Amino acid sequence: MSMVWYLTLTLLAVSPAIIEGCPPSDRAALLAFKATLHEPYLGIFNSWTGADCCHNWYGVSCDPETRRVADITLRGESEDPIFERAHRTGHMTGYISRSICSLTRLSSIIIADWKGISGEIPTCITSLPFLRILDLIGNKISGEIPHDIGRLQRLSVLNFADNLIYGSIPPSITNLTGLMHLDLRNNRLSGALPQNFGRLGMLSRALLSRNQFSGPIPASLTQIYRLADLDLSLNQISGPIPDSLGKMAVLATLNVDGNRISGRIPASLFSSGIGNLNLSRNALDGYIPDVFGPRSYFTVLDLSYNNLRGAIPKSVSSASYIGHMDLSHNHLCGRIPAGSPFDHLEASSFVYNDCLCGKPLKAC
Ligand SMILES: *[C@@H]1O[C@H](CO)[C@@H](O)[C@H](O)[C@H]1NC(C)=O
Ligand SMILES: *[C@@H]1O[C@H](CO)[C@@H](O)[C@H](O)[C@H]1NC(C)=O
Repeated sequence: MSMVWYLTLTLLAVSPAIIEGCPPSDRAALLAFKATLHEPYLGIFNSWTGADCCHNWYGVSCDPETRRVADITLRGESEDPIFERAHRTGHMTGYISRSICSLTRLSSIIIADWKGISGEIPTCITSLPFLRILDLIGNKISGEIPHDIGRLQRLSVLNFADNLIYGSIPPSITNLTGLMHLDLRNNRLSGALPQNFGRLGMLSRALLSRNQFSGPIPASLTQIYRLADLDLSLNQISGPIPDSLGKMAVLATLNVDGNRISGRIPASLFSSGIGNLNLSRNALDGYIPDVFGPRSYFTVLDLSYNNLRGAIPKSVSSASYIGHMDLSHNHLCGRIPAGSPFDHLEASSFVYNDCLCGKPLKAC
């Protein structure tokens, strides 16, 4: 037997083990995925060579039993030594190819903070039955959210923040009953929020700021028992603040600043667990409810740029803590109450009202 033949047979004998390391179809899908992306500074894709895509391919990991690709984790900003060596953050252009949908065992897709990836979200992504995390934050992805996103029954994290995505939130999203973290901040989304948003019963963070959402705050939101952080700021949301928002079990942050919200401030907001409240730059009117007490604890309480009238309620002095308070640019009048929550506040918290007086403004 010639030496060449001997070597060939030896290679054939070991190759099944290598193929077991990563199914050739997954490897081919990864290479097709890489082919539509361009990453010139760090060379992260240089490691995507060899037969075993489960072994030392940067950002790729496989299920230890099935050996199918389970996670793609490519972050353009991280502490990984590859970034330290390059003394820079990542930048990538190109688009996310449909071939990613051939990786049918994917449980997480994190393609984050590459700043230059454009194109649209492949619509076939909704056919990945095991997907739990879909995080495409910080790119230049445009197009719409796939209309059948609700098919991703196992999804718990959906993060499309800081992209150029437009259109409205597809109604099917409320079928994602396991969703815990929804981040759509800073896109070009518009239209009303789904009325039955409250079906997202596992949601703990809903971050929708800096879009062009309109219509009312869906009242059903207040049924989401676990919701801790609701950010609707800098949209065109109108109508009143539902009174029930102040009765939510764990809501700690409520930012609805920079909208067209009108009506009164529900008293419930000031005697709730909300510690971070920004209602600035809306069209709220009426009085500030006189319901503060020892349970009122605010790191931020910003009511500036509204049409609030009357006096600052005396009960504010009985709040246990108010870190940053801004009541400026309203139509408030009368004496500023004294007390520990006020001692550290500066005039800027009270300026541009109709006739407020007393410390830190000039005497009455
Ligand atoms: C939500 O899921 C149900 C049951 O799977 C389905 O019948 C319905 O069409 C879905 N709703 C939307 C808006 O996709
Ligand atoms: C509240 O929202 C306004 C308007 O968006 C913003 O300018 C302000 O900085 C916010 N206040 C705090 C304390 O973050």
